[in-house]
Amino acid sequence: MNCLKKTFLFLLSCTAILLSNSIVAATNVGLNYGLLGDNLPPPPQVINLYKSIGINKVRIFDPNVEVLNALRGHQDISVTVGVKDQDLAALAASEEAVKSWFTTNIESYLADVNITFITVGNEVIPGPIGPQVLPVMTSLTNLVKSRNLPIFISTVVSMANLGQSYPPSAGTFTSQAREQLTPVLKFLSQTNTPILVNIYPYFPYASDPVNIHLDYAISKSETVVVQDGSLGYSNLFDAMFDAFLWAMEKEGVKDLPMVVSETGWPSAGNGEFTTTDIAGTYNGNFVKHIESGKGTPKRPNCSIDGYLFATFNENLKPAGTEQHFGLYEPTDMKPVYKLF
Ligand SMILES: *[C@@H]1O[C@H](CO)[C@@H](O)[C@H](O)[C@H]1NC(C)=O
Ligand SMILES: *[C@@H]1O[C@H](CO)[C@@H](O)[C@H](O)[C@H]1NC(C)=O
Repeated sequence: MNCLKKTFLFLLSCTAILLSNSIVAATNVGLNYGLLGDNLPPPPQVINLYKSIGINKVRIFDPNVEVLNALRGHQDISVTVGVKDQDLAALAASEEAVKSWFTTNIESYLADVNITFITVGNEVIPGPIGPQVLPVMTSLTNLVKSRNLPIFISTVVSMANLGQSYPPSAGTFTSQAREQLTPVLKFLSQTNTPILVNIYPYFPYASDPVNIHLDYAISKSETVVVQDGSLGYSNLFDAMFDAFLWAMEKEGVKDLPMVVSETGWPSAGNGEFTTTDIAGTYNGNFVKHIESGKGTPKRPNCSIDGYLFATFNENLKPAGTEQHFGLYEPTDMKPVYKLF
């Protein structure tokens, strides 16, 4: 079966190298590095933080010059770089524009930055600019192929693509998602390139805390809570992940690898649902899930590859929980709660 193991064999060897060379144990968990704050530490300090806690996978939302320069010489950190949503229209209209975007934003770093993924658009499918994703992905894929570069081209989507997600086997895309996402998934299937999905059990929990148990939402339950045919679910994360797999299957996309581009839990902003204790428990259990090498009930033999959101609390995001997803305080880089 085509699962992450096959595509990500190189990730495993990377970890082994890191483990043998450093005192800090490497983690397989990646971190999102968001920049929507006016009090964030300089990027070189952030890269030092990553090194000190064993992070070797980082996702940035756009090709930020300071961050990419700070990553120079740290090839043991693999980097996912996003194309800005507002650049999609111009890039979709012209292959020449894609070439010049690539030269400026990617190629000029490749000698000493380990860029392994380019993501075209962040949660723009389903939506008004969703149709711009595939043309840009196609141009970029042709470009990296023609230059023989080991870079995956994909996109990041959210659970908003699912019209139905409960129980997981009922997972189905909305009609707009079928129009915009299905062709992207078929395209990715041709080269066994992962789709990146943001999965936040926090949101369904916060909107329905009566019917969704906290222990199930934060992966603390030790027993099966939702039985779905022969598959038993003890946590909402697995159920959401598998609902997406079922929805893809209904579109004829069966074994496509899936990477969790974002997950996390806010530590403040919504009363008793968002404490450092709850956020630390959810994120800690996610780290354990990844390190266990186990998959979800539907793909038990495929280890999960995923990134926590986010490195810092970001004060320029919308007020409320959005500003409190960080693992670290921006001003002194102290952990918001113990995780690594
Ligand atoms: C770049 O990252 C990939 C994937 O993590 C890894 O296999 C490879 O060894 C890294 N390259 C270097 C030069 O460390
Ligand atoms: C997972 O691996 C086990 C042991 O190799 C095997 O028995 C099982 O059929 C596999 N499950 C799936 C869904 O591939």
